[in-house]
Amino acid sequence: MSASVAKSDLLNAAVREVGIAIDKAFDSLLPVPDDARARLYEAMRHAAIGGGKRMRPMLVKATADLFNVAAESAVRVGLAVECIHVYSLVHDDLPAMDNDDLRRGKPTVHKAFDEATAILAGDCLHDLAFEVLIDPRTHADPFVRCELVRALAVSSGPAGMAGGQMMDLEAEKSGFDLPTVTRLQQLKTGALIGFCVEAGAILGRIPPEGRTSLHGYARDIGLAFQIADDLLDVEGDAHLAGKALGKDAAAGKETFVSLLGVERAREQARMLVDQAKAHLHGFGAEADLLRAIADYVVERDR
Ligand code: IPE
Ligand code: IPE
Ligand code: MG
Ligand code: MG
Ligand code: MG
Repeated sequence: MSASVAKSDLLNAAVREVGIAIDKAFDSLLPVPDDARARLYEAMRHAAIGGGKRMRPMLVKATADLFNVAAESAVRVGLAVECIHVYSLVHDDLPAMDNDDLRRGKPTVHKAFDEATAILAGDCLHDLAFEVLIDPRTHADPFVRCELVRALAVSSGPAGMAGGQMMDLEAEKSGFDLPTVTRLQQLKTGALIGFCVEAGAILGRIPPEGRTSLHGYARDIGLAFQIADDLLDVEGDAHLAGKALGKDAAAGKETFVSLLGVERAREQARMLVDQAKAHLHGFGAEADLLRAIADYVVERDR
């Protein structure tokens, strides 16, 4: 078997396994109550179950596996970060933000339900993330749980994803330069991806000074991931992506692609992936899934 076949087998198996585990976890986390909140739960289930690449939970698992972390811990942390990610997508699609009708091949939550329900569904997914993390089933040690909560809060808030979303809205108005767009992307997408890798190390009880190479890996794939999203927006297949494309140019938004052009943006993403894998040189075959994820980040078509 060639190395690249083995690598894609490894990735495919992880995609399947993590996809099933996350769908199952959302299903048991969100039973629809028999009262006036049913619509809220239905909206959360619509957003969270069935769809998406589950890249973030996969990154948590791949990093946690380096340190022999229990599978249940990794799945629960993956579930928490996916809660934040899905909430960010529900709000990103709202008329006040990107005003999108399609997400993961389905109507967006405000289309399938209504705007107020979509806002509340996003809020509740945000809250659930922290409820999941702080539960003793996530990790027996409360210090580990607190470190996870802090890391997820920082990477989701104004110094992370939400701050990046604010900059992204500003990008429509002010012609940002490359360093500013890089900062924007690092916050909007990179921060949560950084959390996933950090969380694997936290669960593995790796002290901060032992996480440097993983931080380098996460920074590089985070940026490459967003460059790939921007490239897909320009030249992807909307049917495969399951969302409307061509939105960035239509909004007059500066992205890596608008600033560098398609070819240089693609080269930059590939260079970042090579650099990400170079950060893993101290690991052996146990980091092959992280290497496969890095390649997938730029090779993906959705
Ligand atoms: C889309 O994220 C939004 C960005 C941060 C670029 P994903 O490409 O991970 O979306 P899903 O989870 O697979 O739907
Ligand atoms: C959204 O970025 C990123 C977050 C939700 C944090 P985009 O607006 O580029 O994502 P898509 O293209 O709608 O998936
Ligand atoms: Mg957006
Ligand atoms: Mg969007
Ligand atoms: Mg996009």
